[in-house]
Amino acid sequence: MKTFLVTGGAGFIGSNFVLHLLGTRDDVRVVNVDALTYAGNLENLASLEGNPNHIFLHADIRDRDAMAQALTQYQPDVVVNFAAESHVDRSIENPGVFADTNVMGTVNLLTCCRAAWDDGKGGFGDHRYLQVSTDEVYGALQIPEAVNPDGSPADPAGATYFHETTPLSPHSPYSASKASADFFVRAWHDTYGFPSVITRCSNNYGPYQFPEKLIPLMIHNALLHRELPVYGDGLNVRDWLYVEDHCRAIELVAEHGRLGEVYNVGGHNERSNMYIVRTIISEVRQATGDAAITENLIRHVTDRKGHDRRYGIAPNKIREELGWEPQTRFEVGIKKTIRWYLDNPEWVEHVTSGAYQQYYERMYAGR
Ligand code: NAD
Ligand code: DAU
Repeated sequence: MKTFLVTGGAGFIGSNFVLHLLGTRDDVRVVNVDALTYAGNLENLASLEGNPNHIFLHADIRDRDAMAQALTQYQPDVVVNFAAESHVDRSIENPGVFADTNVMGTVNLLTCCRAAWDDGKGGFGDHRYLQVSTDEVYGALQIPEAVNPDGSPADPAGATYFHETTPLSPHSPYSASKASADFFVRAWHDTYGFPSVITRCSNNYGPYQFPEKLIPLMIHNALLHRELPVYGDGLNVRDWLYVEDHCRAIELVAEHGRLGEVYNVGGHNERSNMYIVRTIISEVRQATGDAAITENLIRHVTDRKGHDRRYGIAPNKIREELGWEPQTRFEVGIKKTIRWYLDNPEWVEHVTSGAYQQYYERMYAGR
């Protein structure tokens, strides 16, 4: 049995990762550490109830004693750190908690792993640590002069992309905190020989994503005939990856990536926000037969401060070194995602009651 200690495993990508590991392998045990912030939801893991290979620990990655104890008690072979504050708009509103969790939490986890894994001779045995980072640490790219109607580059070969060697240039408090964490992970490797790897993925979408992020927010609002708030001109471009593809990439890099390296993860699914919103409108209307879901719901609202214009990942390294390929094209993944939200109204209802309404008012009223 191999033991993975996964942090943030009750969040969107973390819970998909835990479900992926335990759903595809019988040689793994998962210790799932999550502080259950507004973004953590044990309902995501309901199908694992009674599964002896899933152990949930309600704990904070900033808590030195709790992390040291978990590492001693469960002796994980691999640690995957998903735990983070992850929403850019919240980081603009309240940056401090992003520094606390994303930077100091990571430093604490690194410190505890190093202490637990040190073999006394400068080595760390076969242990491995994966830091789940983001393409946002690279900053923003320009939109190419010629783009397709969906926002993707008309001449992909002539467009610029984020490579692992692209200098870090974060703009938001969120991306600054993630970049800072990446520097600490690299420092642990370069200074102590700590066995770490970093993945930097583009925008994810799929089941269990909290409806503060673009895709689930637009699906949720469309179903309620609420306005669809598009920031600025809506021509910003993101590179969308179905969450299951990201989970397979993390599994591969965690076990087989070269230590000290960074691996970009993305599937060349660049789309403008307007294209995404229009696609959601037409797919939700088709799936529900609700003729009131039309483009009249779109409302352009005040732009996000410091809004990055375009992200685009070059995933060559992970493909060439580890043979990873994305399996779900955007047009397929978006249909699956909408179907999941339609089939899980209780999940949506639970996460959007209470505090979510206050968040929505604060973020969107009068914008
Ligand atoms: P999320 O906000 O859905 O989930 C974060 C999880 O971390 C929640 O379960 C939360 O309870 C937990 N958490 C927060 N603070 C914690 C703490 N101090 N201790 C323990 N647990 C804590 O986030 P997500 O979208 O699933 O993102 C997961 C990771 O992937 C993040 O590190 C994020 O930066 C990165 N990432 C996200 C995307 C994306 O598109 N969502 C893309 C690339 C990388
Ligand atoms: O690129 C990876 C990153 O993707 C992750 O590191 C982050 O954790 C994740 O939140 C995501 O960041 P973005 O800021 O790109 O995602 P978000 O869903 O918030 O926004 C996507 C785009 O849609 C962005 O250009 C802003 C725009 N937007 C978003 C919301 C919530 C709108 O136009 N209206 C909205 O209401």
